[in-house]
Amino acid sequence: MTTFLEKRIERIVILTGAGVSAESGLTTFRDSGGLWEGYDPLDIATPTALETNRDVVLDFYNLRRSDLNKCLPNRSHLAISHFQRAFSGHVFLITQNVDDLHERAGSPQVLHMHGSLKVMRCEHCYKEMKALQIFKSSTPCPLCLKSGNLRPDIVFFGEIPKQLDEINVEIMKADLFVSIGTSGVVYPAAGFAAQARDNEAICVEINKEKSEIANLFDYSHIGLATVEVPKFFSKVLLEN
Ligand code: APR
Repeated sequence: MTTFLEKRIERIVILTGAGVSAESGLTTFRDSGGLWEGYDPLDIATPTALETNRDVVLDFYNLRRSDLNKCLPNRSHLAISHFQRAFSGHVFLITQNVDDLHERAGSPQVLHMHGSLKVMRCEHCYKEMKALQIFKSSTPCPLCLKSGNLRPDIVFFGEIPKQLDEINVEIMKADLFVSIGTSGVVYPAAGFAAQARDNEAICVEINKEKSEIANLFDYSHIGLATVEVPKFFSKVLLEN
């Protein structure tokens, strides 16, 4: 059966970035007014920053965690969640985002390759746990009771993203790779489209503007995620 993508689609990998959560009210990183306009990522999102300015780093994520509590999933999250549950084939959702809006939209599977605001871990007892709303260097670990060792379970620049082996296997097997709301400047995520192409997958980009890697995509849908994402996935459902 041919589809508007001119190929039967059975295995789909979806990659989302900050743009999918922008219309829920969460600031992206590199748009005008983005998070990295107000902060230098090297002062905030590196292991060195955590060592030298622990409370500055913890407060940055405390603030983002409280912003997240005021936000709701938007139509893009809901459309992806519906698609994951309605599509007869295999769908694998990878997000660069640390928010939980995909989960709150009902997505049955989400791989947070950069970690999650909702998880914290203790660097003394190495346990991961649900993040406290607000925590500082003086906050004792709820499990080992030592203080000065809690950190958000966020992958900092210079650290290795999560579950890359699983991601590589999924991309190797994908017929369709859909990238949504990412500027395509941070690796390894920015390399996934090239990897998918090398494995003959059709590559689709949905973004407010052409990303740095737009040339790698067979199709580009330029527009707001809440408009383009529901439109795209309902077409895939209709034709597969
Ligand atoms: N609809 C569609 N796309 C949008 C929307 C929207 N409403 N709003 C913004 N975008 C697009 C922007 O045009 C931009 O291309 O989303 C992209 C967001 O890019 P970034 O802010 O760079 O975010 P992202 O690509 O997710 O960043 C990747 O960088 O700092 C690290 O770990 C951080 O996961 C993050 C990674």
